[in-house]
Amino acid sequence: MGQDIKISPSILSADFARLGEEVRAIDAAGCDYVHVDVMDGHFVPNLTIGPGVIKAIRPHTQKPLDVHLMIDPAQPFLKEYAEAGADIITVHAEADKHLDRSVQAIRNLGKKAGVSLNPATPESVLEYVLDGIDLILVMSVNPGFGGQSFLTSQLPKIARIREMIGDRVIDLEVDGGVNSGTIKSVVDAGADVLVAGSAVFKGSDYRTTIQALRDAAA
Ligand code: DX5
Ligand code: ZN
Repeated sequence: MGQDIKISPSILSADFARLGEEVRAIDAAGCDYVHVDVMDGHFVPNLTIGPGVIKAIRPHTQKPLDVHLMIDPAQPFLKEYAEAGADIITVHAEADKHLDRSVQAIRNLGKKAGVSLNPATPESVLEYVLDGIDLILVMSVNPGFGGQSFLTSQLPKIARIREMIGDRVIDLEVDGGVNSGTIKSVVDAGADVLVAGSAVFKGSDYRTTIQALRDAAA
């Protein structure tokens, strides 16, 4: 494994004062997706950006905007995020009393539907939505902040979800604490999309950093 992975840098660790430029830089550096962390100060203890910022960065890249909604409720806002330019919209299983309705709504908006699980949430919540989703996002830190340490407790969960996916075409994305020291274990467990925030944005040469992540995963 390792050759077909996708890297989705999280712009949470970018310079917000130069966001358009930062998005162009990771695009030019060879990222696969652009990961956008939306936080509401309620579902998670941090407040970040909303649809206005997504709309503003949309013209700066053709790559898929991978929008991670850490908001509760998410359902009333899905259309707004779709119209702002999201390509993949991921909701948290814990934030949604009607997960199946939300993933159907995302697909009906013409977008790819993702479901995210917090570290303490078991993979069994995915069982009855598996045939209606395009991405599963396993949180390997407690969501809210960049720069936290990877929780190795999530590795067996990633492996079990890879088995559950079987032949389905579903991205298995892992988010939190992914860096050149942890990425191989995550990919070996079965992940194929890796979010990296601080690991990508801490330096200035994004191309070298993204390539180093790919090399470390191989
Ligand atoms: C955390 C966010 C992550 C975060 C990852 O709540 O969902 O996307 O930006 O940051 P790193 O890669 O620094 O752990
Ligand atoms: Zn995220």
